[in-house]
Amino acid sequence: PQPAPAEQFEATIARNDRIEPRDWMPEAYRRTLVRQIAQHAHSEIIGMQPEGNWITRAPSLRRKSILLAKVQDEAGHGLYLYSACETLGVSRAELTDMLLTGRQKYSSIFNYPTLSYADVGTIGWLVDGAAICNQVPLCRTSYGPYGRAMIRICKEESFHQRQGYELLMTMMRGTAEQRRMVQESVDRFWWPSLMMFGPPDANSPNSERSMAWGIKRNGNDELRQRFVDMTVPQAEALGVTLPDPDLRWNEERGAHDFGEPDWSELSAVIKGEGPCNAQRLAHRRRAHEDGAWVREAATAFARRQAARSGE
Ligand code: ACO
Repeated sequence: PQPAPAEQFEATIARNDRIEPRDWMPEAYRRTLVRQIAQHAHSEIIGMQPEGNWITRAPSLRRKSILLAKVQDEAGHGLYLYSACETLGVSRAELTDMLLTGRQKYSSIFNYPTLSYADVGTIGWLVDGAAICNQVPLCRTSYGPYGRAMIRICKEESFHQRQGYELLMTMMRGTAEQRRMVQESVDRFWWPSLMMFGPPDANSPNSERSMAWGIKRNGNDELRQRFVDMTVPQAEALGVTLPDPDLRWNEERGAHDFGEPDWSELSAVIKGEGPCNAQRLAHRRRAHEDGAWVREAATAFARRQAARSGE
């Protein structure tokens, strides 16, 4: 006899196989995916703002075209992810509304300002580096459309990380003032980058359930550790200091020990109290309103095409 849909679902998860949009899934699995994928999509779109801030002030035509392409890639990532999320039965309009009304979140990291051009490099190196650590395992997530979107996103993120590192390398070969700019930028972004991985596992309400369902493949702390271990030698090669007096190699663990991020800062930023939360959402809201005529025109056009093909 055919197993009941719930058993089939559990068996698929146990085999590490993929759940597809038409498969039966528990409502809580669907809700968790909508929450995570939407939050991820919103992060890509809001994440265009801090770097977009520097497009008009990039120091050369080459740097400007790299930055433009990078920010456009982020828009593309947001669109793949909104599409993946739509396969779960929510519309893009609903998701946008949930972002704009504060019912869905986006990553804490994008609520920090970009104060110097070095921040473009640091975001590529540290923020996109953290994103890669967090997202490569998501290519093997249990929900098919999300995992497939992540494959392309990760390839592009790797390229973004390399461009950030190359930018910082160039600045480090420049003047003493440029080296100071890089160090100052790294000092500001280090701790917020560690917070991107979420609260410690012991305070992560969703991790256990999400890992049992194969949505997340690793805990927040494991990925944060992986990021620190990957980044320390890169910082040495670059010639910058990571602003953590407790950071050192632990021979016994075969990993770096590091200090505790300020978790009260993370929860404040998530609650909307970060330095740029209000500005980021106001900008997104304005862009949405400014784009209303495009959505109306596209809808009217689609309606006319549909009526014509029905003739
Ligand atoms: N920024 C904002 N919110 C966060 C962050 C963060 N850095 N970390 C955790 N949270 C939120 C969670 O969304 C959750 O709130 P919710 O239940 O209302 O959604 C709450 O804090 C508790 O955290 P967890 O239980 O650990 O939540 P979860 O299991 O979803 O893990 C994580 C959080 C690791 C961010 C996970 O959702 C994830 O891997 N998402 C996909 C990657 C992603 O969104 N990246 C975006 C930034 S990277 C980029 O776009 C360049």
